[in-house]
Amino acid sequence: MTHTVSNLLNWYRGNARALPWRNPPGEALPTDPDWPYRVWLSEIMLQQTTVAAVKAYFAAFTARWPTVAALAAADDADVMQAWAGLGYYARARNLLACARAVVADHGGRFPSDEDALRTLPGIGPYTSAAIAAFAFGRHAIVIDGNVERVVTRLDAIDTPLPAARPQIRGALETLTPQNASDFAQALMDLATSICTPRNPRCLICPLSPDCRAARSPNPADWPRKAPK
Ligand code: ADE
Ligand code: SF4
Repeated sequence: MTHTVSNLLNWYRGNARALPWRNPPGEALPTDPDWPYRVWLSEIMLQQTTVAAVKAYFAAFTARWPTVAALAAADDADVMQAWAGLGYYARARNLLACARAVVADHGGRFPSDEDALRTLPGIGPYTSAAIAAFAFGRHAIVIDGNVERVVTRLDAIDTPLPAARPQIRGALETLTPQNASDFAQALMDLATSICTPRNPRCLICPLSPDCRAARSPNPADWPRKAPK
């Protein structure tokens, strides 16, 4: 493990947000079949909605439908009604279709590899990687906009997005540990609390010794913007 990664994981142990769908840092992932269900449900809810707004919906859904089988058996109208307020109703329709496919085609257990996950309704490249990592501890490369910001700063990647994506992925392939769960969630938390879009707090950042942007006049100059 590079010391960039151990610095990040040490920071995460002391600073991880406690979230109802998140495993505590450093602990083994739960092995019960409801764990991937919770990870999947949270990731679908988080696709276009903030963490703060998702918390109450996640609690309501898991209280009413504690397993993927329970959700698969729900009435469509009940699920659509419980989803009201989260918006993007295609997500709720895909949610039900996915729950039913997991029951019908996978014996009620989410598959653990990204390719199999991606065949399910509503699960694209980001979500399949997130479930593989957070639910199963797989070596998956989890990339969202927040992670892109941190990595372009770490390596001072001057190619603008989206052209920089292959380089970002390459950097993450080098950094990501065999079990990506804590690592990827640590990057997400660092991105929202320290390596923020406008005012990155490099002075308190665990990655600053290894960060090229931190040694530049303005770390917020990354990610680069394509000229208009
Ligand atoms: N956004 C999507 N998944 C997340 C997670 N596991 N933790 C924090 N933010 C997230
Ligand atoms: Fe972001 Fe600054 Fe940390 Fe680099 S040192 S990752 S720019 S907060």
